[in-house]
Amino acid sequence: MKMRDMQDQIMSLKKEKDVYILAHSYQAREIVEIADFTGDSFQLSVMAQKAPQKNVLMCGVRFMAETVKILSEHKRVVLVNPLAGCPMAEQMEPEMIEYFKEKNPGYTIVAYINTTAALKTVCDVCVTSSTAVKIVNKIPSDRILFIPDCNLGDYVKKQVPNKEIRLLQGGCPIHAAVKPGAVDEAKLKYPNALVLVHPECRPAVVEKADYVGSTSGIMEYAKKSSNREFIIGTENSIVEHLQYMCPDKTFYPLSKELVCPNMKLTTLVDVLRALKGQVGEEITLPSDTIKKARRCIDEMIRLG
Ligand code: 13P
Ligand code: SF4
Repeated sequence: MKMRDMQDQIMSLKKEKDVYILAHSYQAREIVEIADFTGDSFQLSVMAQKAPQKNVLMCGVRFMAETVKILSEHKRVVLVNPLAGCPMAEQMEPEMIEYFKEKNPGYTIVAYINTTAALKTVCDVCVTSSTAVKIVNKIPSDRILFIPDCNLGDYVKKQVPNKEIRLLQGGCPIHAAVKPGAVDEAKLKYPNALVLVHPECRPAVVEKADYVGSTSGIMEYAKKSSNREFIIGTENSIVEHLQYMCPDKTFYPLSKELVCPNMKLTTLVDVLRALKGQVGEEITLPSDTIKKARRCIDEMIRLG
């Protein structure tokens, strides 16, 4: 079957079955084209709540599908490819945080949204890369434990110097693998290009960037900028999406290693099969987990 025919089938099936398709911006072009909404983690969680459809198909990773389920308990939420996880989301166990809280009373636990639903139940407020600085500034507490990404945490710490922000060792193996030397090399090769990076990159990479932001932040910045060339320091699908959106500008990947294998697991064939009920995993969570984890996410939406 041709890709276009498959996309046509998906478009009519999702209508017939009352399904809202969400895609994270790291998904492949052909998936973004059939999605009802594509965006960063924060936007996905907001849109899932707003959509009138009873069924949601998530083209992304598990924590994103869990977030949708937490916010829309009565919707049927299916993760298209059940193998798609986020290694960062699984780096910390709730017991670790319980232990920290016991030993360090008075800290507000700020969790990056890239965490499991179980971990969110022991945290106070969630943030995404696009909302972290704003939310940490807004929360009344001055003593914060930021988990699990110490690179994003370090970035927030520098933007909010008046608060005591403690970090634990964790992060995205894909973004953290980019070496600061890659920025110097790319700048030498493309001297007119601006460097736009995701805050999941190491501090030494972030320091060399012209702009630091979420996936949507990077795309917005590149679209609005009067500059013509950009070096993109996040998952390489953003390079491709930007090239489609702004054909008269040029985008270079900061590193060819910036490819998230989990985000790449979902294919167009999977989406069609999931709509037919042949593949995919319906997300189910204990109602107590939903209740407790939801407090964190509601707080994020309220403050973000
Ligand atoms: P965004 O919140 O920028 O979409 O990031 C999600 C993610 O997984 C980045 O690696
Ligand atoms: Fe997780 Fe990193 Fe992949 Fe984002 S890019 S989903 S943080 S592993």
